[in-house]
Amino acid sequence: LTSEPDPATPASWDADGVLRSLQFGDIYFSTTDGLAESRAVFLAGCGLPEAWRGRRAFCVGELGFGTGLNILALLDLWRVSREPGARLQVFSVEAFPLAEEDVRRALAAWPELTDLGERLLVQWPRRARGFHRLDFEAEGAFVDLAIMEAGEALKAWTGAADAWFLDGFSPASNPDMWRPEVLAGVAARSAPGARAATFTVAGAVRRGLADVGYIVDKRPGFGRKSERLEARLPPPDPAPAPISRPAPRVAIIGAGIAGAALCRAFRALGAEPLVIEAETPGAGASGNPAALVMPRLDAGGGPVAQLYAQALARAADLMSRCPGALIAQGAVQLEVAAKDSARFEAIAAQDVFEHKALARLTAMEVAAALGEPEGPRGLAIRDARVVEPAALLARWLVHAKIVPASVAGLEHDGAAWRLLGPGGAEIARAEIVCIAAGVGGRVLAPSLPLYAVRGQVSLAAGPSAIAASNGEGYAIPTRDGFLFGATHDHDDEGIDTRTADHGRNLAQMARSRPRLTAQLGASLLSGRASLRAATPDFLPLAGPVPDLRPGLFILSGLGSRGFCAAPLLGEHVAALALGFASPLPQALAEIVEPARFIRRRARRLGRQMPGRPTATPRRRAHRE
Ligand SMILES: Cc1cc2nc3c(=O)[nH]c(=O)nc-3n(C[C@H](O)[C@H](O)[C@H](O)COP(=O)(O)OP(=O)(O)OC[C@H]3O[C@@H](n4cnc5c(N)ncnc54)[C@H](O)[C@@H]3O)c2cc1C
Ligand SMILES: C[S@@+](CC[C@H](N)C(=O)[O-])C[C@H]1O[C@@H](n2cnc3c(N)ncnc32)[C@H](O)[C@@H]1O
Repeated sequence: LTSEPDPATPASWDADGVLRSLQFGDIYFSTTDGLAESRAVFLAGCGLPEAWRGRRAFCVGELGFGTGLNILALLDLWRVSREPGARLQVFSVEAFPLAEEDVRRALAAWPELTDLGERLLVQWPRRARGFHRLDFEAEGAFVDLAIMEAGEALKAWTGAADAWFLDGFSPASNPDMWRPEVLAGVAARSAPGARAATFTVAGAVRRGLADVGYIVDKRPGFGRKSERLEARLPPPDPAPAPISRPAPRVAIIGAGIAGAALCRAFRALGAEPLVIEAETPGAGASGNPAALVMPRLDAGGGPVAQLYAQALARAADLMSRCPGALIAQGAVQLEVAAKDSARFEAIAAQDVFEHKALARLTAMEVAAALGEPEGPRGLAIRDARVVEPAALLARWLVHAKIVPASVAGLEHDGAAWRLLGPGGAEIARAEIVCIAAGVGGRVLAPSLPLYAVRGQVSLAAGPSAIAASNGEGYAIPTRDGFLFGATHDHDDEGIDTRTADHGRNLAQMARSRPRLTAQLGASLLSGRASLRAATPDFLPLAGPVPDLRPGLFILSGLGSRGFCAAPLLGEHVAALALGFASPLPQALAEIVEPARFIRRRARRLGRQMPGRPTATPRRRAHRE
């Protein structure tokens, strides 16, 4: 389960030490002084730092991430001139990501950027197709890096930039980066009054920007270039929200993995959420002694595969910063059905996972990894994690005020939401409310199709440090032994532990981990039962609750993959709630949008003959 460096690189070093694109033949930045060029052309060209004065949040877009030099220069300026507590969101696009060692060598020329550069490099290499979030927490900044072609990235991103750095290679060598469709995408993803800057004054670029609404000006250039471009859209109407407006109050209902992930995400965006929990953090499905962080695998390579690949990468990143919560890294997905062989081949080849993050395993390799006799073949999932939920929840809820109360109802009084207890007493008021109550979401958002799937895990004391496997069931290490299961039962909401269910878990484990099962002998098992919240299409609910009143959001329906999906989806919901750009590409946001069921129902009703029965949802759940 170890990773090897990816040798592919789109650039090479000239004899005189200049990094040059192999495909385009052009250089990444000025040979005079790349950092001075970034500051003169892009930062000053977009009117920075004046443009972010008085702003609580500012968003910069860039075409052509390259070495990240422009973005490091931006962060360097932001950290000394931002408003206290303000957040900087950066969206940058790169179709041909550089190798880490080339970036390290290129950035070594500027010692003043060493600390920022190091933090960029530890979050490198990002090569999988899709969006990747890089954090610069101390600066109150983050970068959503889109590894894809510029036209595709601009269609996928849902944000609106206040400033654009247009930094493709020269239009002569890299015309794709400057084509009308890309410039139209820039305009479509610009905030009113946005600024744009570039080093080129090529006629096609000037005309292209003017055609999409930018007012374009030539300015004295940097280094050997006599001119550069500054461009701006007409001023906003009305002006952006002044910083003096109070920040919205945020309340999160539920302190499982969904609530904790939301709490972390809101705090990263500068909000101080209040968490309301009926019992204690982890009282629901998120309270097992260990959880496997594993993506739902989808051989189609479409939005579902992309969503879980991005979610796994993000969960692994964020959890690696909580070493106290980490029990193990890597897991083996076992072939269970005959079709799994072809399915796993297709999945291992998907470019939405990092290079070498998935690897096919022979039956012998699986047996060696698990310490079992030779059985099925498998798939090694390098970035899977086993975490200790209690430690993770404690870490992500650490600064939150947790109110012990059960929310029985929600009312909007025209200005804010009132969270009401069972007797109708007001627990809290907030402009933004996020329902993260697992199956408790059924009461608080009754228009959404959530249902419960009972599950029981079995717990064995020692042997600990087993390798994690998943297939028909799963077996993962805990702090003092291991955990296996789990059962999946519909129409049963009991959370008592049952001897019969231990029997079912044992029978299941005996098929995939016979040696481990034999080691158990007749030892007594303990266990834990809880309820998963599932949806008819097995995808989460993450986004606004369809409601005429503003500010109501949900993160639930996480099924059997809550620990993988919640960290990313918490960031998605927090971004939507606070007006930041989502970390999700549009197509991925759509498949988790809560309103999808209402839209589908409306379409079905539109098509349906009067009196024809509607289809009942399939009742099945994805396995842990
Ligand atoms: C047996 C079993 C094993 C599993 N194993 C794994 C695994 O290994 N990996 C994995 O990724 N997933 C696993 N899952 C799924 C995972 O547990 C869930 O996806 C996840 O825990 C859901 O998190 P949640 O925060 O949405 O809900 P929950 O963890 O259920 O949290 C909801 C919280 O909201 C509170 N609440 C409810 N109603 C209200 C209210 N009205 N007011 C205030 N508070 C309220 C509850 O007390 C609870 O604390 C497993 C599930 C089961 C059942
Ligand atoms: C001049 S370099 C960018 C330099 C970068 N801003 C920096 O600070 O190092 C141009 C970048 O655009 C990328 N690029 C070229 N064509 C592209 C396309 N069609 N879509 C996305 N990225 C592209 C190149 O790979 C290259 O990294």
